[in-house]
This record gives sequence, C-alpha cells and structure tokens, in this order.
Amino acid sequence: MAQVHPLYLKGLICVSILLSLIPLWCLLVMTDDVQRRWQLSSHFFLLQGNLPRRSRLQALDGTRRGVDFPSLFTSSQTAPHCEPGQLLFILVTSAPGNSEPRQVIRRTWAAREGPTPYQWQSVFLVGQTADVGVTQEIQREQREFGDLLVGNYLDTYRNLTLKVMHGFKWVAERCQPSYILKTDDDCFVNTDRLPEFLQEHNTIKTGLYAGSLFPREKRQVIREPSSKWYVSRQDYLPAEYPPYASGVGYVLSLDAAQRILWAAERVHPIPVEDAYVGILAQEAGIRVKSSARFAKHNVRWRLCNYRYLMVIHHLSPQEQEVAKGNMLRARRACRGGLEVTKWK
Ligand SMILES: *[C@@H]1O[C@H](CO)[C@@H](O)[C@H](O)[C@H]1NC(C)=O
Repeated sequence: MAQVHPLYLKGLICVSILLSLIPLWCLLVMTDDVQRRWQLSSHFFLLQGNLPRRSRLQALDGTRRGVDFPSLFTSSQTAPHCEPGQLLFILVTSAPGNSEPRQVIRRTWAAREGPTPYQWQSVFLVGQTADVGVTQEIQREQREFGDLLVGNYLDTYRNLTLKVMHGFKWVAERCQPSYILKTDDDCFVNTDRLPEFLQEHNTIKTGLYAGSLFPREKRQVIREPSSKWYVSRQDYLPAEYPPYASGVGYVLSLDAAQRILWAAERVHPIPVEDAYVGILAQEAGIRVKSSARFAKHNVRWRLCNYRYLMVIHHLSPQEQEVAKGNMLRARRACRGGLEVTKWK
C-alpha cells in the first residue's frame, strides 16, 4: 500500500481550501454595478451578510432601475434664475396649457406684498407637449416671467412622478433652499404665513416631510388597469402604500429631499407621484408628519383660518383672488387670538 507523506497531504488540503475560497471572495468584493451587469438573481445576495441590506424594492436585475435623472434635463430651455440658500422654494406642478391658472397665481399668492425678511421663490414645473401653439406660449411666458422649469419628458398625468423628481433634483442641486414645498396649480399657498412659520416656529429642521395624510383604506394600491392611479405588480408589489402626504402640498427639508432623491436612483418609479415620494421617504428612513395645515378641500374657511392653513386645494381662479384677500385681511383682523405654533 502506497504511503502518502503527511506533509504532502497537508499541502494538498491547504491548496484545496484556498481554491474553494476564490469564488466566495469574488462574490464579496463585486460591486453593485458588476452584479447588475451580470444580472445575478436575488438569492446570491443572501451570501453577502456584510454588505448593506438591499431593499426588496431595489433593482437587482438591471431591468427595473430607479429614476433616470439625466434624461429629464433639457439643454434647449433656459432654467429659472434662483438665489442660492433661500428659506423656501415652492414647486408648482402645472400642465403646459394651464396659462390661466399660472397667470392667476402670479398675481395672487406668488406675488410679493412688500418687503419680507423671509426669502422665498416659486417656479412652475412643465413638460413637453406636441401642441406647437402651447409650446410657443410656454416660451413667451418664460421670456416674460422666467418662472418655468421645463423638463425633457412628455407632459402627461402618468409622467407626473418624473415632473416632480426633475423639480426636486434641480432645486436641490442649483438652489439649495432650507425647505421645499411641492404643490399644484389649483392650490392656494399661504405665502404670508408659511415662510414665517418655517423660520420662527418649526422645530423639525432635518428629516422634515409634512403634509395631509391618507387613511389606511385610501392607501390600497389600485390594480384596475383603466384607473388613473393604476400600478402593476411588476412596478410595485405590496398591496398597500406606506403612509404618505397628499400631493396637494407637502413640505420637505433640504436634507429630506436629498435623501429622497438618493432613494429614487434605486427605487423604480410608479406613476402615483405622492405615493412614490412616500415609498422613497420610507426607504430613506424619514417619517411623514401629519399636519392639518394642508387642506385637501376648499370649504368655506373662516377668515382667521387663514392664519393657520398653509395650503388649500381645489380653487378656481376667482377663489384664488378671494383667498389672497382673506390671507391679507386675516393678518390684521386675527391678531388678537393666540397663534398656533405647531404643525398639527
Ligand atoms: C413620459 O415621458 C417619456 C419621455 O418623454 C415618454 O417617452 C413617455 O411616453 C411618457 N409616458 C407617458 C405614460 O406619458
């Protein structure tokens, strides 16, 4: 019987251990990018206990990526001017053809009433349209007012998410205000109170995401393909959205917006803009704050409610004029009462 020298056996064991370690080492050092290019499936990641935990919403196979930010920017349109470091930046989603609501907003809540110690600015977010007449009107408005941020996406309801992501990216990179308000062109914004409130009373300086929340029943994902809010299981698997603020109006601190934008690089967008922001906030570890200062309905608010409310939804152009008048009158008429200084 042939005798194997003990030293030779030890060497053989060492070499085979080393060889078996190579594939494991490869898996551990591979970057995300390589993994994606190689289209590795998700069970591979079970081996990587020491790498950051991946969310079930993140792209693993390279086909369901996050928002493609560079594609949203266009070089052919001039962007609005903004002073860096303002207190508040208001982003207003607007359809290209909505010249009238924009015009009304410019002369109501977006108009500055005398000097103010609080620096704020508002900009309308619009996309591309095939209508030549509307495109010319957009260009005319931009020359006259310079308050349109035109993005490189087709302006449709189901592209609203891209519109808002483009707006956030632009404002977070170029203007860097302390706070961002996202709202819509059928909403009233209390520009007499909101900047002052943020500066003087808000105590949540970082990780702020505040707005009007939906009850749980209204957070069910709609799987009916004919619905305006339809989302497929491929795009978003859970049956219910995490808590999120209505797109009517929500306020983000700059750091919250930046963290939401980072999450958007990885999480596949869904067409429901406000729910998507809620998903991103959850991914980024930001808790949404519920506030009654954002009103989804325009009921007959009493005059002194205009000292409390920050955003009111569903106003006609005539109602915008009335609301503006109330905002200014409330400033003088409602001084006697105690001001509420909390978000709630
Ligand atoms: C969204 O915009 C992109 C880029 O312009 C366009 O290709 C796409 O058809 C639009 N999607 C919808 C649902 O309108």
